[in-house]
Amino acid sequence: MNVHAAALAKAHRFDDRTSAFAQDVLEGLSLQPKRLPPKYFYDVAGSELFEQITLLPEYYPTRTELGILRDRAKEIAAIVPQGAALVEFGAGSTTKVRLLLSECDFGAYVPVDISGDFLNAQARALRADFPGLDVYPVTADFTAPFALPAGVKAMPKVGFFPGSTLGNFEPHEACGFLRSARKILGEGAQMIIGVDLEKDERVLVDAYNDAAGITARFNLNVLVRINAELGGNFDLKAFTHRAIYNRERHRIEMHLISRKAQTVRVLGRSFAFRSGETIHTESSYKYSLDRFTGLAQSSGWKPTASWTDSGGMFSVHALVASD
Ligand code: AVJ
Repeated sequence: MNVHAAALAKAHRFDDRTSAFAQDVLEGLSLQPKRLPPKYFYDVAGSELFEQITLLPEYYPTRTELGILRDRAKEIAAIVPQGAALVEFGAGSTTKVRLLLSECDFGAYVPVDISGDFLNAQARALRADFPGLDVYPVTADFTAPFALPAGVKAMPKVGFFPGSTLGNFEPHEACGFLRSARKILGEGAQMIIGVDLEKDERVLVDAYNDAAGITARFNLNVLVRINAELGGNFDLKAFTHRAIYNRERHRIEMHLISRKAQTVRVLGRSFAFRSGETIHTESSYKYSLDRFTGLAQSSGWKPTASWTDSGGMFSVHALVASD
């Protein structure tokens, strides 16, 4: 933390998590173009909005990936070693992991997430439904190195990274994450990863501009959080949601656009907006099968299987550690 952020944190009696949020917001709003990290969408309200997004008619990724996992669960079961520890990077809804746990013979489940409360509630539910399974929740930022629980050290490891969360990383960060996961999981590890595919621009744009306006509320929720947690004074009606497809960079971009020239205050600092100026709040990279397997190969993994749905919308890949 820099000196300025540390002083602010002290003055406002922030805990470590809030100070990290404060620092990222002050930094992001000082950049040109302005941006905010997508990880701050997910407080309780934002996580609920995301759950609603996954049920929208336009948002195909969640249901499509679930369909692939359901159809391929037996094939996945055949390639993962018996009694392995399943390590999930990030833990939202347990629907996807339940499919793997019911079909495969895992010895332990290790969900890793920043939000400890949510993680522990999830762990209790899974222990009740899978009595033979050891569940070891780890509260950690999975984009940085963390230690696996002692109880799973001797087991073979299988990583699980569904939902195309990888798409939120810049390509070099995606490579860094895959290398770090390879290091954490160790020699001989496997990985099951879900990746959204490049497709017709209309379908992509609609998935992030739903008719019911839930994605707009999800996007604006980051400003709600800044107001509530950092004493910001964003006028929510003065910003509008926009999602566009950037074809050259293979990514959906979500923005919040200032409807007018205005100044916003956060933690005693002023940020000026021109009319039409944007805050870039999320990139969601889309991959072709070849570009993803190429990325995996250059990041310490050997692709062993790739599955897609019949419409070629979404992909699930099995990888094995290559060095
Ligand atoms: C959770 C990152 C996969 O990029 O599609 C959904 C988040 N943003 N609608 C995605 C999201 C807007 C989602 N990921």
